[in-house]
Amino acid sequence: MKVFFWFLCFLPIVYAAGTYDYFQLVQQWPPTYCNVSGGSTCSSPLKFTIHGLWPSDSSKTQAPKCTGSPFDSTKISNLKSNLRNDWPDLNGNHERFWRYEWEKHGTCSETKYDQLQYFRTALTLKKKIDILDTLVKANIKPDTVARYESSKITAAIQQKTGFTPRLWCKNGKLLEISFCVNTSLADMHCPSVLLNYQLNVCQGKVQFPDKVA
Ligand SMILES: *[C@@H]1O[C@H](CO)[C@@H](O)[C@H](O)[C@H]1NC(C)=O
Ligand SMILES: *[C@@H]1O[C@H](CO)[C@@H](O)[C@H](O)[C@H]1NC(C)=O
Repeated sequence: MKVFFWFLCFLPIVYAAGTYDYFQLVQQWPPTYCNVSGGSTCSSPLKFTIHGLWPSDSSKTQAPKCTGSPFDSTKISNLKSNLRNDWPDLNGNHERFWRYEWEKHGTCSETKYDQLQYFRTALTLKKKIDILDTLVKANIKPDTVARYESSKITAAIQQKTGFTPRLWCKNGKLLEISFCVNTSLADMHCPSVLLNYQLNVCQGKVQFPDKVA
């Protein structure tokens, strides 16, 4: 009986550490990333790259932080060339970046997607839409001087996918785009709590820079 009560006491705490009901696939725009937070070694290919796949809670603004199995580089040996291409650390510390994303975010959904599945899933989800191609076809091209209405960026993507993404900006530049999928990985509109979250929100006309500076 005592044991049972201890179990009841701790169960909710364990769950609270990693509650999630959808995922955000967050992709970043390297020229903006390097402008706002890169160092002198920051590389800025003109293509969207993965920042992370974040188990998220639709009632909260911030993704939960979790703990679980430590990152094991050997588990993703076969994915590394794809990861370096689609999920690079822009300062070249790839393994450190993957470790951080797995240990902070990936572990939240570890009971459903183990480390290999987590990285593979992110790569697969990224392939569903070529963001740059979609934007260019909507006449939203990386440019040094042009400014684009952020609602038009959202609309171009929504028209392609059928679902509302969440844009993130910094210093008036497009920084990241989150796509949302449910726990079965089906596309969904990003939840209103995320869309209404004011942090780094894109407002009015923004830059989609083709250069760091
Ligand atoms: C995810 O969305 C799909 C399509 O709308 C739906 O069939 C599925 O039941 C959803 N899964 C969960 C866990 O909500
Ligand atoms: C970031 O971009 C601005 C122009 O929008 C430029 O003045 C600044 O020097 C850039 N910063 C870096 C670190 O390149």
